[in-house]
Amino acid sequence: MYHRTMWARSLVWCALALAACDDPELVHGCPSLTEPQAAPGEPIDGDTYTSFAAPLLQQYCTRCHATTLSGAARSGAPVGLDWDDEATVRQHLAAIRRTIGVRNVMPPSEPRPSCDERHRLVRWIDADAP
Ligand code: HEC
Repeated sequence: MYHRTMWARSLVWCALALAACDDPELVHGCPSLTEPQAAPGEPIDGDTYTSFAAPLLQQYCTRCHATTLSGAARSGAPVGLDWDDEATVRQHLAAIRRTIGVRNVMPPSEPRPSCDERHRLVRWIDADAP
């Protein structure tokens, strides 16, 4: 009886360990998307800067990162990192990808994007930000 229980336990342990190996590591509650999530030029369900990325950045980022904000109103967001400006967004895609999809540290307070929204923005960046 004792041995049977141990055997059953080790089976459960293996299943858990395998699942952990298949899934990406969670960082701040969401998968850390170190691998590419799309190939450059992939259709990604028609997502574009205008239809998807700009509204998402506006929903979660521009309360701190905006050309219209200065001083304390930026809540510490570095001057010049303004995500309401398309050219600036495009210059900083790698940093945006890292902070929203790998380290998952942005935004630093609620409201935060869901894991699906983080994945979708990373996919847009990896598809070459159409
Ligand atoms: C509540 C205010 C706030 C919001 C909202 C916010 N940020 Fe930030 N952001 C900061 C602060 C403060 C810093 C500088 C300190 C730091 O780097 O952690 C920063 C720095 C950054 C940097 C530069 C740091 C680096 O590691 O490259 C990037 C990129 C960035 N934010 C992206 C974003 C994105 C993308 C969003 C939306 C998903 C966002 N931030 C939302 C406050 C904010």
